[in-house]
Amino acid sequence: MSSIASLSEDLVDLVDRVKGFMPEAEGIALHAAAQSYFTGGVGVEIGSYCGKSSVYLGDAARLRESTLVTIDHHRGSEEHQAGWEYHDPSLVGADGRFDTVGELRHTLAEAELEDVVVPIIGRSARIATWWNTELDLVFIDGGHTEEAARADYEGWARWVRVGGGLITHDVFLTEDEGGQAPHRIFRAALDSGEFAEAAEAGSLRVLERIKPSPSNG
Ligand SMILES: C[S@@+](CC[C@H](N)C(=O)[O-])C[C@H]1O[C@@H](n2cnc3c(N)ncnc32)[C@H](O)[C@@H]1O
Repeated sequence: MSSIASLSEDLVDLVDRVKGFMPEAEGIALHAAAQSYFTGGVGVEIGSYCGKSSVYLGDAARLRESTLVTIDHHRGSEEHQAGWEYHDPSLVGADGRFDTVGELRHTLAEAELEDVVVPIIGRSARIATWWNTELDLVFIDGGHTEEAARADYEGWARWVRVGGGLITHDVFLTEDEGGQAPHRIFRAALDSGEFAEAAEAGSLRVLERIKPSPSNG
């Protein structure tokens, strides 16, 4: 297996400046895990926001001559809307709607990742209805409602190849620490018997597929 590289100083500086929700220690773990799963194929990220986690994943894809598809409708999750805890008024567009597309493009350009990272603007569950490509990894960091997290698990985990990675963010063991939907899909993946725990850092959980998906054979 190829050695695991660190993020360059320029990219460390960039991810520090990009708006988002990926603490550095978890980002470093994500970067390392992604390097171990990318083998020249495709990975999917759900929840691009402004591209913070996309830089960690995209750089890993570049190092392994792979492709990252990053999916987001760019209208923000519940907690990003006006009046909610994580609302950022600087991300409201001229039309008065929350919009992170421009920030993502800017981040990918500055990271020189535009040839490696392919953004798709849309609802993850809609895109999953026509997706038909086996994946080296899936990173789930989209909507954190029960419905959204469950749809991402059911729509995307099935495409992870045997030996590939299913990585979930914001997995908290108790309600006091945070919402439980990511924890529930992490448990569902383990309980399916198709995945085994591979690594963790903070609220990031890395699972590896050990059995084929019954949905995909
Ligand atoms: C927690 S943020 C992602 C943070 C990002 N990974 C980072 O490192 O900063 C969640 C993102 O998921 C997106 N999102 C929520 N529900 C979605 C859905 N059903 N389909 C696509 N994107 C969705 C939101 O627009 C938001 O940008």
